[in-house]
Amino acid sequence: MTTIGQPLDRVDGGVKTTGAAKFAAEHFYPGLTHAVLVHATISRGRITALHTAEASAVPGVVAVITHLNAPALQPAPKPSMFNLTTTFSGTSVNYLQSDEVHWEGQPIAVVVAETSAAAREAAALVRAEYMVTKSVVDFEAAEKDARPQPNDSFFPRGAEKGDAEAALKAAAVALDLRYTTPPQNHNALELHATTAVWDGDRLTVHDATQTIDWFRTHLALRFSVPMTNVRVLAPFVGGAFGGKSAIWPGTIIAALAARATSRPVRLVLSREAVYRTVGGRTPSVQRVALGADRDGKLTSLVHTSIIRTGRIGGPFEQVTSASQHLYAADNILARHDLIRLDLLANAFMRAPGEAIGTFALESAIDELAYELGMDPIELRLRNETSVDPVDGKKKFSHRRLRELYALGAERFGWHERSPEPRSRREGRWLVGTGVATAFHPALMMPVNVTVRLSADGSVLVRCGFNEMGMGGATAQAQIAADALGVPFDAVRVEYGDSDLPMGPAAAGSVQTASVAASVVQACEEVKQTLKTLAGKTGGVSNEEILRRSKVPHVEAVVGSETRLGRIGGRARFLPGFLLGAQRWVKAATGVQFCEVKVDAETGETRVSRWVGVFDIGRVINAKTAASQLRGGIVMGLGLAMAEETLVDPRNGRIMNPSLAEYHVPVHADVPPIDVSFLDDPDPKMPLGIVGAGEVGITGVGAAVANAVYHATGKRVRDLPITLDKLL
Ligand code: MOS
Repeated sequence: MTTIGQPLDRVDGGVKTTGAAKFAAEHFYPGLTHAVLVHATISRGRITALHTAEASAVPGVVAVITHLNAPALQPAPKPSMFNLTTTFSGTSVNYLQSDEVHWEGQPIAVVVAETSAAAREAAALVRAEYMVTKSVVDFEAAEKDARPQPNDSFFPRGAEKGDAEAALKAAAVALDLRYTTPPQNHNALELHATTAVWDGDRLTVHDATQTIDWFRTHLALRFSVPMTNVRVLAPFVGGAFGGKSAIWPGTIIAALAARATSRPVRLVLSREAVYRTVGGRTPSVQRVALGADRDGKLTSLVHTSIIRTGRIGGPFEQVTSASQHLYAADNILARHDLIRLDLLANAFMRAPGEAIGTFALESAIDELAYELGMDPIELRLRNETSVDPVDGKKKFSHRRLRELYALGAERFGWHERSPEPRSRREGRWLVGTGVATAFHPALMMPVNVTVRLSADGSVLVRCGFNEMGMGGATAQAQIAADALGVPFDAVRVEYGDSDLPMGPAAAGSVQTASVAASVVQACEEVKQTLKTLAGKTGGVSNEEILRRSKVPHVEAVVGSETRLGRIGGRARFLPGFLLGAQRWVKAATGVQFCEVKVDAETGETRVSRWVGVFDIGRVINAKTAASQLRGGIVMGLGLAMAEETLVDPRNGRIMNPSLAEYHVPVHADVPPIDVSFLDDPDPKMPLGIVGAGEVGITGVGAAVANAVYHATGKRVRDLPITLDKLL
């Protein structure tokens, strides 16, 4: 392999940095109109009157569409795990089809106008009257009403081995701790946006989506047209992080408005509208209880969580996922409970479950280390495992955590620390260091591709995968180049269009490995065909073989694009995938090392150093992979120290729906981040690839909390770690 592993620049870097790349809201069509949503201001009830005359009278307004005049829309399909499209309708609400209100912020009207200014002005003039019904919106107050999460094979309710509660009572050393994390909202740089155009019964949608294929099937379903009549284009997406994997109201209402007005519609959510209509990360209450003997061997590990979904939907977060796989405890209890509230459905957000679950677990491990008077890395090593701790049989396809702890400790200078809290001071700064383990499961999805080798030696890879800034096309070009033995520059990759062969979602860290599996298969077929041709006509180079054979190109097709073909593809993929999951634990792992400086007087906390070491299997592009991991760590710093959605407990209204009041890390908050990886292929994954998209954020919250404890002697179990909690 010559190209794989190289830190190559992204093939789409040039068009992005020069502004030539067109994002969803930058497509122009003749007669283009602009749409703005009007939001409900109650959390539950019915609309009794809608006053739209004033809005309609604003010059330039084309239509004010409400449940009283909107075209029909099919309801969202019932969620089924065997058709992921159905689980990714952001909510179960059928927008603008009835007078019912299900959350504060639900769109109750959309204004379509010749200019965005006119649409905004008119939207502000729509007035609604309501009949308010009782709603439950306060997560903290509803905690006692938590119920076990419904069980399903993809999102299990929990796991159990032995009697963890009894073992906890009997343990020589035991801790029983409560951690809490707040709701968080998505803040991708590119606002959610849709440009929707109907041509008869054909719909074209430019959308900021990370799940092109699901969007297409979902839109076809909602608008009662064949799947082949819908085209979704998303060649460029300005960040997504899970916020653009479900289909939120803006997309559907843009297409509805275009149908109602027979005009192309552009709908760009304002930042506030993103908060009101795009789900975020659930808050959580977590209990981690650890029992151990005096040598630090875990006898009991309890991790239970309470999260919230909307009454109108939202995914179950696997908060205890890492706790089921990281430590060889004799007794384990993991459980997911939930509360359904009258709020917007929650959404996936980078490492849903693991991001907040590892905060609690890895903080608790640190607390236990102090209780035992033991180095926290030593405590982890004493509980390292070679089989899955819960069933004791499943093996890890690949697990090198011992090496990661050693490598990271070396790079960071971990062992130079005195474990004593408050033992290091530099002027007004208290300095502390912390460590935590990172973990994210490795999954896959079925993918169709075509690979074509032409007589001029060029290669075209076609696959409708998603690009939200992580370098997907670059990685696949590297993979195809090596698989065919051609230069990197000879490969072009087409992606981001539902007219291409069916791609995966860019979600769950699945994309690179999933696409690679099919690209490699197609390249093998191309090579076989070339070999056959060469046997007949001779020739050494690819170009020569094709010239002598008088064929313009050789093409291999993986998968079928017909409806039945796709269903068949999924049906063939699923059993193997599930069987693999029964035999192997596949995961990306890592270790996060953090140094903080805390102002002894004000509690101001600065993260001053970061070292992350990761095992993500084979690294395809050393530059983009490191950027993914670094980006995950930066987002983790937000989770640890800044991000918090404030929900008014009286009415469910988000009170800080803007980047002025919802804080994310800025450059000044982020220290140089040292990222490295083992680059060791996972034998059970295609080309040895394990996803790098999400593991970077896991463990970050705990590494910061542990460092803050070491610096100050104050243990913060409630994110974010803001200065008021340190005074
Ligand atoms: Mo991710 S939270 O699956 O984009």
